[in-house]
Amino acid sequence: MTSTGGGQTNTWAAGDYPAMADRLLPAAAAVVDAAGIRAGQRVLDVGTGTGNAALLAARAGARVTGTDPTARLLAVAAGRAEREDLTVTWRDGVAERIDAPDHSFDRVLSVFASMYAPDPRTAAGELLRCCRPDGRVVVAAWTPDSFMSATNRAMAPYLPPPDPAGTPPVRWGDPDFVRGLFGAAGASVASGTSSVRFEFRTADEAVGFWTRTAGHLQAQRSELESTGAWDGLLADLRRCFVDAAGGDTAPVVVHSTYLLTVVEPGGGSESGGGDGSG
Ligand SMILES: C[S@@+](CC[C@H](N)C(=O)[O-])C[C@H]1O[C@@H](n2cnc3c(N)ncnc32)[C@H](O)[C@@H]1O
Repeated sequence: MTSTGGGQTNTWAAGDYPAMADRLLPAAAAVVDAAGIRAGQRVLDVGTGTGNAALLAARAGARVTGTDPTARLLAVAAGRAEREDLTVTWRDGVAERIDAPDHSFDRVLSVFASMYAPDPRTAAGELLRCCRPDGRVVVAAWTPDSFMSATNRAMAPYLPPPDPAGTPPVRWGDPDFVRGLFGAAGASVASGTSSVRFEFRTADEAVGFWTRTAGHLQAQRSELESTGAWDGLLADLRRCFVDAAGGDTAPVVVHSTYLLTVVEPGGGSESGGGDGSG
């Protein structure tokens, strides 16, 4: 395992995250849309994972760099770019230490990624630092009351405890918190909610997908199986899906809400965030 910084262990490669990333594509599209990307612009996608937002920006003709601390996901991103004959610069890196000069990008994006930086203030400062004053930073983060948060709460008792001094990632899904993070330096900050729709044939299929794609869970799986806790976890997750879907339905449809925040470092006119369901 590698580290994502702040002493955290990186488990993003331990599960089938690329399958989850496919389902999150509508959120990346909403971020790219809110960024208003045009051909020729320099775009940075921080925590690019398998490259969802980076590739959308590259297809729009932007000159794109995607960074991520998880080498295996960057390799998937690079493979996707190669298959489409798109040129993107892929680099190892975390949000809290961006290896780029000040004001070197027109658009800085982060889709469900900067929220995992152990120090949110440093990460937000870095996103702003490498964006041009007349540019735009656009971030997406699950809200504290989202379905994604509910499943994380269900999984938490089965996982190693988080750093008690750390900031829960979903704080980035609270408009007041992100305004405090980005607004202090005189930037304009506008947030709105949207959601990602998940559909599975059955609740069991949904639970299978969730556990398969969650690297932090897969990293604990053999221990949980050996203690017999794994079955309890599956039952708790199943309850999450049934509750959110309004019953043990087939298919199972749930929506997970996220906050989309548009920051204009130079304090330009307010532009709306997300406003509908993905
Ligand atoms: C939920 S995935 C999102 C990936 C991608 N942006 C997408 O939309 O599919 C979270 C990503 O954040 C990355 N990550 C973890 N810690 C990070 C940090 N401190 N700074 C930047 N990215 C980080 C992980 O490697 C992973 O690729």
